[in-house]
Amino acid sequence: MKTPIFLALDVDSNKQAVELAKKTAEYVGGFKIGPRLSMKYGEKPVSQLADLAPVFVDNKYYDIPSTMEASVRASFDAGASFCTIHAQSGPEALRRMAAVEAELNDVRPFKILCVTILTSFDQGSLPVTQKTNPIPEQVMALIEQCRSCGLNSFVCSAEEVENIKKRFPDTYLVTPGIRLPEDAADDQKRVMGPKMAIDLGADALVVGRPITKAENPALAAKKFFESL
Ligand code: C5P
Repeated sequence: MKTPIFLALDVDSNKQAVELAKKTAEYVGGFKIGPRLSMKYGEKPVSQLADLAPVFVDNKYYDIPSTMEASVRASFDAGASFCTIHAQSGPEALRRMAAVEAELNDVRPFKILCVTILTSFDQGSLPVTQKTNPIPEQVMALIEQCRSCGLNSFVCSAEEVENIKKRFPDTYLVTPGIRLPEDAADDQKRVMGPKMAIDLGADALVVGRPITKAENPALAAKKFFESL
């Protein structure tokens, strides 16, 4: 990646996504899209954006192992360089994902990122089955299980990066919930500035609304880039 910033293209039209991507391409290293675009346009946004920078398909797969495998392969075939699954998928699915990741990397670089606990959760807003264990413990346990199954790339909150890197320095960590001091937190509960997140050990950042909703998205992307 040219810069460690993934721009989250959480918009409703492909035209808007490609326009935003072109405006910001100088300052971002990759583009992240989710079901909001892929449900509407299929492979098109992935292949169009992949001409500009690596594409991260963030559909957060969490299903039976065979469905997860097929979904990951479909993301790869569409042109993605990164895709997400839930770290809570269980050892059978995780082992299968690790085998698929290794196989696909023989074709071109491709990472399956395991989403730990969403950055929109804090301890109080977690689902009932997850409420009792502290978030940092849950994140660490999920990372240990994913690693023991052969996966080593994760999406986590910037608040967890330091501890994870201390314990597992070879992990690849992507952190959303990134904001400059002047930005609104929106629905993110665990946020941090870009420089601090990188200094603590994040390998890449995800930034969405502070850039996509800015009056001048190119200028906003430049600010994030320069803050690093
Ligand atoms: O607009 P904002 O910068 O909050 O966007 C963050 C992006 O990262 C969204 O697309 C969201 O789906 C994604 N994400 C997240 N927290 C995670 C995993 C992904 O916010 N744990």
